Amino acid sequence: MREANGPPGDDWTRVVAATDVPPGKLKGVATRQERLVLANVDGEFYALEDRCSHQDFPLSSGELEGCELECPFHGATFDVRTGRATRLPAVRPVRTYDVEVVDGEVYLRLG
Ligand code: FES
Repeated sequence: MREANGPPGDDWTRVVAATDVPPGKLKGVATRQERLVLANVDGEFYALEDRCSHQDFPLSSGELEGCELECPFHGATFDVRTGRATRLPAVRPVRTYDVEVVDGEVYLRLG
């Protein structure tokens, strides 16, 4: 977590307060461009596209276990750090985004 004022840069978008995503939890967020899911793994934040690579259902409805996000629809899992699919039926990764937490606010670099 950085100690600074304001967004990390012009291409970063504030999405939620860090306290809105407690450790071990997921939160779906919508920006103008994308639907994303935030994951808090012991205070480290990760962001992925909120769409399972199996059949496009929202990953934000899933469960976070350590660094693994489980899709509730057919049980595929993804590593939130990389987006890599780690259990069938998903085989393709999901897109990940850069995340910064500044002064308790979560910022994403989109695009
Ligand atoms: S839609 Fe996620 S496992 Fe099928």
